[in-house]
Amino acid sequence: ILGLKTDVLGREIVYRDQVASTNELATELAYQGASEGTLVVADQQTGGRGRRGRAWFSPPGKGVWMSLILRPKLSPAYASQLTLVAAIALSRAFSSLTGQQAGIKWPNDIFFGSKKCCGILTEMHADHDRIHHIVLGIGINVNMESSEFPEELRDIAVSLRIVKGESLVRSKVIQSVLTYLEPLYQQYVREGGFSSLREEWKLESITIGRNVRAVTPRGEIEGTAVDIDEAGALCVMTESGEIVRIHSAEILFN
Ligand code: BTN
Repeated sequence: ILGLKTDVLGREIVYRDQVASTNELATELAYQGASEGTLVVADQQTGGRGRRGRAWFSPPGKGVWMSLILRPKLSPAYASQLTLVAAIALSRAFSSLTGQQAGIKWPNDIFFGSKKCCGILTEMHADHDRIHHIVLGIGINVNMESSEFPEELRDIAVSLRIVKGESLVRSKVIQSVLTYLEPLYQQYVREGGFSSLREEWKLESITIGRNVRAVTPRGEIEGTAVDIDEAGALCVMTESGEIVRIHSAEILFN
């Protein structure tokens, strides 16, 4: 990628016209010893993966489907916080690329208004009590027109092109994302987690202050999202005034 000025992220780039999933390929490469910051990009994914076992729409020519191999020297407990760090970078990059304000829906989606333009799928592989590597998978809808989304996504998905009103060069999108992400990633590694980035996260959030329904493995919680804690859990105040910390859930806006 011409003009990429990062030190670590994207120093090695593996490009494929077509893969099943860049996360899958990145995992293989990571086990083969690929270096910290290796970027895997594909034009098209035939088995793009979303969270919770869902498929991720990844047609050729239209998006950025990428995975970064990262090797932070942290305990596995901190891996999920990397998603939050990446979300800050993505939200900033998209706002600067489009001139419109993007925002983070906790934990791993980037939205414009009420529509999603990007999702993150972080997969951690541990070795005893250390992170062996993390695959940070990022899917960005870049140049689709509304009519190019499958019917079921049309009302909930958006692309950078639709927001900006003109198409974007995908390599520039990658460059912007990596440029915003690198210093945040380095801070996360240096400080051993997400906590010092909380305020920055909140500036990009569209979640805090909203009435939400959190669908967790142990049932549903309804209330107002009031904060994010040092570990990255979403704090939801229920009707009774109790504050519940949510570590993993699907968030629905009420
Ligand atoms: C989600 O919102 O559910 C997460 C979507 C993550 C999609 C990206 S595209 C690149 C990488 N490879 C995959 O198979 N998935 C992630």
